[in-house]
Amino acid sequence: MEREEDKIGVVPPPSLSTEKAALIEKLTPGTQWRSRELLLNRQIEACRLREAGKKGYNHQGTALLIQAASAVPDLEAKLGIVGYRHNYQDAGSRVTLLVVLSDGRLAVLKVGPRSGEAEQLKLLAERGASVPEILNNGVIGRGGKMVAWLLMRFIEGHVLGAKRPFLVVEPGLDYADVRRRVAEAGNFFRLAHQPLPAPYDGPHDFPGAISFREEVGQYFDSVCVPKAAEAGLMGPGDPTVNSRRWLCDFDTAALAAPPALLHGDPAEVNVMERPDGKLVFIDPVTSYGPPEFDAARWISRLFRHGGHSPYVVADLAGVAVNVEPKLDLHVLLLALACELRADAWHESVKQGREYALQLVRVADELVRLSPEVAALTPQPDYVEKGLALVEARLLQLETEQKLRVRGVTLSEAISSS
Ligand SMILES: Nc1ncnc2c1ncn2[C@@H]1O[C@H](COP(=O)(O)OP(=O)(O)OP(=O)(O)O)[C@@H](O)[C@H]1O
Ligand SMILES: [Mg+2]
Repeated sequence: MEREEDKIGVVPPPSLSTEKAALIEKLTPGTQWRSRELLLNRQIEACRLREAGKKGYNHQGTALLIQAASAVPDLEAKLGIVGYRHNYQDAGSRVTLLVVLSDGRLAVLKVGPRSGEAEQLKLLAERGASVPEILNNGVIGRGGKMVAWLLMRFIEGHVLGAKRPFLVVEPGLDYADVRRRVAEAGNFFRLAHQPLPAPYDGPHDFPGAISFREEVGQYFDSVCVPKAAEAGLMGPGDPTVNSRRWLCDFDTAALAAPPALLHGDPAEVNVMERPDGKLVFIDPVTSYGPPEFDAARWISRLFRHGGHSPYVVADLAGVAVNVEPKLDLHVLLLALACELRADAWHESVKQGREYALQLVRVADELVRLSPEVAALTPQPDYVEKGLALVEARLLQLETEQKLRVRGVTLSEAISSS
């Protein structure tokens, strides 16, 4: 809720022409001019509240955020920041500000612990993958108080997660559009996953580089498992106990191919859509790992908000594999199983035990199918045959167990496309 002091307006910077100030206001609907202090204090306060509620797995404490915030005045002078627009409130351990530069350009400034984000964005951009353009980046501070900063060009548009109907797949509702976005993401992954050039044959080279194993392991342990426990899904023989082993199945299967440069978290909250419909992938995290990881996270997240059937996995996996031939179908099934289980636990408190268990059943089936799909590999049309197998088996599961997640089945979802 907006508070009284939030409503206190700040006027546009006097150095900006009236036209430029008006253009900025048009490009950033729903935001106002704000003072640096107010925005930083809001972010710190939000972080403190989150810390108290222990929500947010990558939360590293308010101390880091305060450290990052203390570098902002120096950066303001260094980068020629003349004004701030109302912010992104939900900062984790990094400060994120929408800023106006002295030449009237809009930019996003991120300040925080060294994460390798700038390095990763540069590598992705070099490959032609659609990411925000870096205007400048560096580190600032001294000794243990060093923080990294990143100034990116502002992207006009909205974050996909902010526009729910975009993700919803219900019979008759724009499934074709979801397929188009899966294909576009597949194209992003295809570009990102190209072999790393020297000297980056070890992507571990760049600061903050983290493998998908660390990232996913941390996500399982600190977010998904506690939520599953809260929803009463933990107990003897419960799948959550084996979370690391599932990751291990996927990981072992993926080891045959060299690790690729990843986005690492292409979830709906990290993808922006421009007014012309083009997608831009922001906020990369994991730097290297199996290419199937990116595709699986993207596809599985399409289910989280949508109120639609998870049984479209076969269909969407097919779209992704057709666009990005480096994706190995049997590894992708294991990756999807991993992500669907993580999502099942993540959503178990909100959506209930039954929803979670249905997702887990689908994930289990994908794991069971994976060796059968792998066995098809000598055949030239292995992808087609493999997908047909997956689809048939999930439909069978649906019939046998009367699986319907939020009322929609695979047959209905596919027939609506
Ligand atoms: N280049 C950009 N142009 C426009 N808006 C942006 C840009 N980069 C980020 N944003 C906005 O800022 C929000 C937060 O950005 P981002 O996802 O990079 O960080 P985060 O997830 O909050 O933090 P962290 O990097 O610590 O995970 C996004 O949801 C988006 O609304
Ligand atoms: Mg993000």
